[in-house]
Amino acid sequence: MKTSGGSDAAKRRAGESAAAAVDDGDVVGLGTGSTAAHAIRRLGERVDAGLDVRGVPTSFASRELAADRGIPLLGLDEATGPDAPGIDVAIDGADQVAVGDGGPTAGPLIKGGGAAHAREKLVDAAADRFLVVADPSKEAAALDRPVPVEVLPAGRSAVAEAVRAAGGEPTLRRAERKDGPVVTDNGNLVLDCSFGEIAEPSALATTLSATPGVVEHGLFVDLADEVHVGTDSGVRVLTR
Ligand code: A5P
Repeated sequence: MKTSGGSDAAKRRAGESAAAAVDDGDVVGLGTGSTAAHAIRRLGERVDAGLDVRGVPTSFASRELAADRGIPLLGLDEATGPDAPGIDVAIDGADQVAVGDGGPTAGPLIKGGGAAHAREKLVDAAADRFLVVADPSKEAAALDRPVPVEVLPAGRSAVAEAVRAAGGEPTLRRAERKDGPVVTDNGNLVLDCSFGEIAEPSALATTLSATPGVVEHGLFVDLADEVHVGTDSGVRVLTR
């Protein structure tokens, strides 16, 4: 589920700050969502100005935007594996960012508000550096938003039962302007799973990953290298 807070100006500052960290020759993971879209648009401007990069999209939406902005594209399979260039940096949004008790550090994330988290995790985890772009409404002392879980359609009920057994409450994500459920870019369904405040994101991530029928979940633990938080006056960069 998407968050509704955050000004577009703050999102734009975050996206443009991360886009400025891309170097000539980089292969760049292109995230999904309204904040990552600002980074893609700025990268497109930099490509127009002569920057040599190739983008690896995380969704239909990011592929469409990047192609429209003239960014040369690579598929994930072409970017990773033996003899492939690899991904130098990925830029992606988040639905919630844990900023840590002891100070403003980049902690675990919840992603998948746009149902793109399976490909996002593949790309973000493969990158040498993963830069999260967010506005202050995404920051939290502890993660407590519902965790999106992409499931094989045939496994929907079994996964829902496993989520309940793990202390969660699953809700099938319904489509807007279409009858029935959201169907992901991979042809699967999404359960938004409420666990209340998540005391141990790493343990929950392990439990969800081990559940048959789960394609991918939206807990991103130990992946973010930096979080660029756009504000109404500038950008704060949180590091690990
Ligand atoms: C896509 O599935 C998500 O992981 C997005 O990255 C996340 O929802 C952030 O989107 P916004 O930048 O639009 O809030």
